[in-house]
Amino acid sequence: MCGIFGYIGERKNAGSIVIRGLKNLEYRGYDSWGIAMRLLDGSMRMAKDIGKIGAVDDKDFAQPCSLAIAHSRWATHGGVTRDNAHPHFSCDGRIAVVHNGIIENFEELRSELESKGHTFASQTDTEIIPHLVEELLKQKGMTLAEAVRSACKRFMGRFAILVLDRQLMSLVAARTGSPLIVGVGDGECFIASDIPAFLEYTRTVEYLDDGEMVTVEGGKIRFQNIQTGEEREKRLVTIDWTVADTGKGEYEHYMLKEIMDQKETIQRAVHQDDEHILQVAKSIETCLGCILSACGTAGKVCMAADYFFSVVAKRHVNFVTASEFPIYHHFLKPESLIIVVSQSGETADVLEAMKVAKQSGSKVLAIVNTEGSSIARAADYTLLINAGPERAVASTKAATGQMAVLLLIAHAVAGKLNAGRTLLLETGGLINDMLNPRYIEHIEGIAKKICKHDNMYIIGKGWNYPMALESAIKIQEVSYIHAEGFAAGELKHGPIALIEEGTPCVALLGNDEFTSDILSNIMELKARGALIIAVSPVRHTAFDLWIKVPDAASAQPIVNIIPIQILAYLLAVLRGKDPDMPRNLAKSVTVK
Ligand code: AGP
Repeated sequence: MCGIFGYIGERKNAGSIVIRGLKNLEYRGYDSWGIAMRLLDGSMRMAKDIGKIGAVDDKDFAQPCSLAIAHSRWATHGGVTRDNAHPHFSCDGRIAVVHNGIIENFEELRSELESKGHTFASQTDTEIIPHLVEELLKQKGMTLAEAVRSACKRFMGRFAILVLDRQLMSLVAARTGSPLIVGVGDGECFIASDIPAFLEYTRTVEYLDDGEMVTVEGGKIRFQNIQTGEEREKRLVTIDWTVADTGKGEYEHYMLKEIMDQKETIQRAVHQDDEHILQVAKSIETCLGCILSACGTAGKVCMAADYFFSVVAKRHVNFVTASEFPIYHHFLKPESLIIVVSQSGETADVLEAMKVAKQSGSKVLAIVNTEGSSIARAADYTLLINAGPERAVASTKAATGQMAVLLLIAHAVAGKLNAGRTLLLETGGLINDMLNPRYIEHIEGIAKKICKHDNMYIIGKGWNYPMALESAIKIQEVSYIHAEGFAAGELKHGPIALIEEGTPCVALLGNDEFTSDILSNIMELKARGALIIAVSPVRHTAFDLWIKVPDAASAQPIVNIIPIQILAYLLAVLRGKDPDMPRNLAKSVTVK
């Protein structure tokens, strides 16, 4: 949540660079924005406002400048106002700070600083940072880096900060919990919450680890441990994402582009090293208890994986939502294996779950999309899903890529790795055929019929049950229709009371042993007036509207969720909503 981006170097258009780069991080938060620029004449220019950074013209910040920081906000402390937008400043206006995260002890620090005469202009936790740095700089011989380090030692909570001093040509950044990545160019440096901010300029990065800070000054980059001040050596890493990967291509929205990317991403997900997959499979077989953990869509993927392991590998694994995971710490042992799943690799609740697992000595396997992310680096083993950057808030290609990797592992546990890979490669081909303009038009016709409804329900059985839950998330988050997913058999235990004449109900089916049961549930809904929209490989007379999907055996949930992603997208567009940036949400949830 919140995107931060800073530039220091030889270019003279730092203001435009950070505004442009920040637009590539808008998925992290988009309720307000702001920038601080140290102009070449040594003065500071500041601008901030409520609204999306996307609407800001980078040419308005083209004044000669080689050092700038900027921020795109997802509000936590303090409402969405211009005053609460970052950057925040010290009383003398010398220090500017942008921040992602939450300083939990800010009230105590604020009172302390107020008693020393500091006045505050916002309700944010962030504003204590420039004031505290200003206070510390009063000490004789104190450098900016030392003042930032001392300030950070007093913060409780999670933070990633960029600090700019009007009097110096240097940029200081620090992190604990929230992500920060250093992009290294020729005579220049970029520091951002996420790689897409600077991909236009460099693919060479250095990762800032938790509890570290970095000072860029006089062409030198110095990493230090925040607590001890000890210097750290870093390895330069080249990342393989390209600028083209982060664009919208020919599509109007990232969400649609990323749905269409699924023509290729299933194949890319199963492009894994056999040895590695077999090792993971062995760990699952030999561990004493395997728990899957994740949030949101990735959590629904884990629930589907429960079925994959049960049906394909006859192996019991549990799923625990990451935010609830710490409650289960009593059951963790050094021999336990925890599998965490995350697109961003930065989700705070997942990181917390990993911390709890590690405290018990359990091993952690991370299945992530973002190489070098905090989750990837904190795990004992990592598998990448290779989906490429996912920028729409609604997760689509990452979800199906995660399911593909987990289904491949389930096959490996069953001793059928090759069969699993063949199934998934064939499924990728079927998805490629499915995603054609006629298919999308057919779903658009259905979306037009139901887009004015306020409520809809989705049912599934077996591995389609978690997909019913995932369908509800997709529809809720982008179209704002009240959608709920149920296990089909649960309808008669309560939810069926919600059905009225014409209520849209989506049923997810496969060509499998669950079909006859769910057909009975469909009849129960129909008898109460529901409009049945079925996603199924086979047509049945009970369906009012039918979205045909290929028969994909155990890969059925991967195939079935795709038309729902398209439906959710089209419902959002028909209802005049922005599917890429839904209200109240952010792509990467780095707060608990
Ligand atoms: C998905 O559409 C959501 N935006 C959200 O539920 C997401 O899946 C969740 O926040 C987890 O994110 P992660 O995969 O980056 O950990």
